[in-house]
Amino acid sequence: MIERTARLIEIRAALERAPVVALLGARQCGKTTLAREVASREGHWFDLESSTDRQALAAAPERTLSSLRGLVVLDEAQTMPELLPVLRVLADRPETPARFLLLGSASPDLIRGTSESLAGRVAFVHLGGFDIEEAGADVLQRLWQRGGFPRSFLAPDDATSYAWRQDFIETFLSRDAARFGITLPPAGLRRFWTMLAHLHGGVLNVAELGRAVSVDQKTAGRYVDILTGTFLVRRLPPWFENTGKRLVKAPKVYIRDGGLLHALLGLRNGSEVLSHPRFGASWEGFALEQVLRFADAERDAYFWGTHGGAELDLLIHRGGRRHGFEFKYSDAPKTTRSMRVALTDLRLDRLFVVYPGLRRFDLDDRITALPLSEVPRIQL
Ligand SMILES: Nc1ncnc2c1ncn2[C@@H]1O[C@H](COP(=O)(O)OP(=O)(O)OP(=O)(O)O)[C@@H](O)[C@H]1O
Ligand SMILES: [Mg+2]
Repeated sequence: MIERTARLIEIRAALERAPVVALLGARQCGKTTLAREVASREGHWFDLESSTDRQALAAAPERTLSSLRGLVVLDEAQTMPELLPVLRVLADRPETPARFLLLGSASPDLIRGTSESLAGRVAFVHLGGFDIEEAGADVLQRLWQRGGFPRSFLAPDDATSYAWRQDFIETFLSRDAARFGITLPPAGLRRFWTMLAHLHGGVLNVAELGRAVSVDQKTAGRYVDILTGTFLVRRLPPWFENTGKRLVKAPKVYIRDGGLLHALLGLRNGSEVLSHPRFGASWEGFALEQVLRFADAERDAYFWGTHGGAELDLLIHRGGRRHGFEFKYSDAPKTTRSMRVALTDLRLDRLFVVYPGLRRFDLDDRITALPLSEVPRIQL
């Protein structure tokens, strides 16, 4: 077992401040395992994928749930969105005798009506695969290459890890997608997902992507929404600001887990990853996810790019300050012209060049080379 202490603290803190907490993350990232630790022996547990538990709740949801005290876990909550109005009533009871922990693998935006029904009453905790702190600083290469899904990361060898990821992709396409109410031909969705893997770290042009796999723009947009809403793909929005330059206006796209990226690209082990032409983009995505996790910056993160070629991989706004990030798979990162343009045009307070080395050092008075292994201690 890998300890996930920081996550446990995060979930417990959320349960202190809100009557309903939603622990959300991709399939198989470890939600149930973590919730079992939070709930330990006192919790009441409903697995909404089990027909007995479903029936128990479907018959008289309000009566069943209102009699419970302490922590109540609803696993696979996305499969019974009709419970949310009930939770809303229970959350509004003045004495709040129970707290509810919902586990789900689809974002509320994807399930019609759910984002409104609990507005203001629910605290969200996002769970990814293992992060660099949980995995440990000595295995960062393995975490990058296999990704953070527990079964993939902990597999006894690369072949087993790779096979697990291929099965994960297959299961998502053939079963999970349909369970989220998505009716798409699996082969089309696979082709689309693979195309996104080739675009990883690049700008997303939905119309063009749709044409490449022969679907219309609307369908292509819906596919991206599904993969984003199930936490498999990240869309990083562009930052707009009038600096007199023509700016890139489309979002950038990433496959969030490096292991899944490599599986989609057919890269079976570390040496195949390192000899792939896009390995730099792959590492960039890996480092980006870690920064977003430890800076808790899901909501205030952007990239910036001009048609003239200047760009910034990541811009985070925090407390009126602007922090820039560049990701470089290099032993000795250097400043570039593009960094200086970003620093001036965006009036950055600070620019971090995140790299795989071991030493933190200043490249300039506002530019710092930051080892990836120090990202968990980052304070913005
Ligand atoms: N901290 C951990 N250390 C070791 N293995 C883990 C850890 N967390 C999860 N796993 C393993 O990863 C697999 C998936 O975990 P779990 O069932 O908790 O994920 P989940 O997010 O609930 O998945 P699903 O969405 O499919 O229900 C399990 O085999 C579990 O034993
Ligand atoms: Mg589960």
